[in-house]
Amino acid sequence: MDRRTLLCGLLALTAGGAGLTACGASSPTRRPGVGSARPGDRVAGLADVPVGSGALVDVAGDGQLLLVRPSDEVVRAFNPACPHQGTTVSPPTAGVITCPTHRSTFDPDSGEVLSGPSPRGLVEVPVAVTGADVVLS
Ligand code: FES
Repeated sequence: MDRRTLLCGLLALTAGGAGLTACGASSPTRRPGVGSARPGDRVAGLADVPVGSGALVDVAGDGQLLLVRPSDEVVRAFNPACPHQGTTVSPPTAGVITCPTHRSTFDPDSGEVLSGPSPRGLVEVPVAVTGADVVLS
C-alpha cells in the first residue's frame, strides 16, 4: 500500500466516507479542492485570472484551486494536486499545465495527462463566470 492509498483510507475512516472524491471515491456532497465551499461561492475575480494562462487561488476553508482561462469568457478549474504525488501544479504556460516535481504535463482544456508519471488527469471542479467573478457552480 502506497502512502496516498494509506492516507485516503485513513480519511475514509475519519470522515465516514465523505469528502473523498480526490482519493478516487465518489461523493455527492464534496468536490475536490473545494471542501466546505458551496455552489455560488466566489473563488476569484475574473481579472485575477490572466487570459491564456491561469492562477492558483485560495478557496476559503479548503486549500486551492487552479483556474485556467483559455479565452476571455471561459474559465475552468481543477484540483491542483498532482495525481502522482500531490505536488501543486503550476498555472499553464505555453498551453500546458506542468507539475514542478516530476514534470507531468496536463491539458488545460480537459486536465488529461499529456506526459510524465501521473497515473491520471487533474480533477475538474465546476465553476462559472458571473459578471466579474468566478464562482463555484
Ligand atoms: S508529483 Fe507531479 S509528477 Fe510527480
